Amino acid sequence: MRDAIVRLDKAAKAFATPEGRQVKALDGIDLEVGRNEFITLLGPSGCGKTTLLQAISGFVELDSGRITIDGEDMTDRPPYKRPVNTVFQNYALFPHMTVGANVAYALEVAGVAKAERTERVKAALQMVGLEGMEGRLPRQLSGGQQQRVALARAIIARPKVLLLDEPLSALDKNLRQSMQLELKTLQHELGITFIFVTHDQQEALTMSDRVAVLSNGLIQQLDTPRTIYDHPASTFVANFVGASNLFEGRADGTTFVTNDGAPIQLASASAAGNATALIRPEQFFLKSYTDAYPAIDVTVEQIVFVGSSFELFGRTAAGRTLVAEIPATQRAAVGALDTGAQARWYYDPAMVHIIGGQAEVVA
Ligand SMILES: Nc1ncnc2c1ncn2[C@@H]1O[C@H](COP(=O)(O)OP(=O)(O)OP(=O)(O)O)[C@@H](O)[C@H]1O
Ligand SMILES: [Mg+2]
Repeated sequence: MRDAIVRLDKAAKAFATPEGRQVKALDGIDLEVGRNEFITLLGPSGCGKTTLLQAISGFVELDSGRITIDGEDMTDRPPYKRPVNTVFQNYALFPHMTVGANVAYALEVAGVAKAERTERVKAALQMVGLEGMEGRLPRQLSGGQQQRVALARAIIARPKVLLLDEPLSALDKNLRQSMQLELKTLQHELGITFIFVTHDQQEALTMSDRVAVLSNGLIQQLDTPRTIYDHPASTFVANFVGASNLFEGRADGTTFVTNDGAPIQLASASAAGNATALIRPEQFFLKSYTDAYPAIDVTVEQIVFVGSSFELFGRTAAGRTLVAEIPATQRAAVGALDTGAQARWYYDPAMVHIIGGQAEVVA
């Protein structure tokens, strides 16, 4: 990457557990984060997300490998001398200090004069939608407001890179969704690089320029949200990001034959060999929109209404359970189905994605 602001080169960190094992929290990570990029680290609990952030902030010391920020080697530099700041999940505000004092803290430590501090606190609070709340104590604010104070406190010193470790996970769903969009807007306005951690795949897809999917201390795939979703590089990524119907079998030209002998049509020829075919639930239709759409025959087992859509569970003749997501606008077609009914689930061959190798199970 030409204009990388953060660069990790074979970053490795192992922890000795109290049970006497070694855990590779970072197993030799190479990563380049672009200037002003919003990048998200996504992965299951324990995969190394927090360790990776803390290696960048300097709170975790690497066993080996190097970290550069804006062209300068940070590997041996203490946290307070790195041009980064962190926003944590639990806000970590000083409870006895007012909002204004909390936000001003870093400037005070840096010896910024009072008049300038007051101005900058005002601007930072305005940026996060909390103007005029300088005098309140953290306990006089809602959870969402406290998280905004934490954000204002982290951006006031204009770090080059902002690290955010699951900053929204304590918020309820609606607030969380509006904060997701606000954070994205704020990042644009500030022109600061954001490295954001979540284990919520929807959040990662919504907010990020690129998503790094991690497991076991390794980056499994690093790509735009659309590529991660439409072209997962492995069955682990396919399973972790979005719901998946995965079929193990063999690709052979434009036909894929599942291990239980059912054909799946492909739009273009795939290299012959063992592979896994992926059809996302929303790629199934209850009717064929063109003559060219093939179908999979299922027995409908369950119909679940989830508001904007229906989730249909169906079983193939070979006993495989599949899931289809049908938009709620097609309620008439869904209403015609009962559990136990036979149905044809159509799909567009162009939307079948082939993943090399056999399916792995998400831990
Ligand atoms: N100080 C420590 N001592 C021992 N093991 C640790 C320490 N910190 C982290 N680990 C281990 O390293 C691995 C990665 O931990 P990390 O906190 O980076 O995961 P995470 O992806 O942030 O998970 P979560 O989503 O639960 O926050 C885990 O197996 C964890 O148990
Ligand atoms: Mg963590």
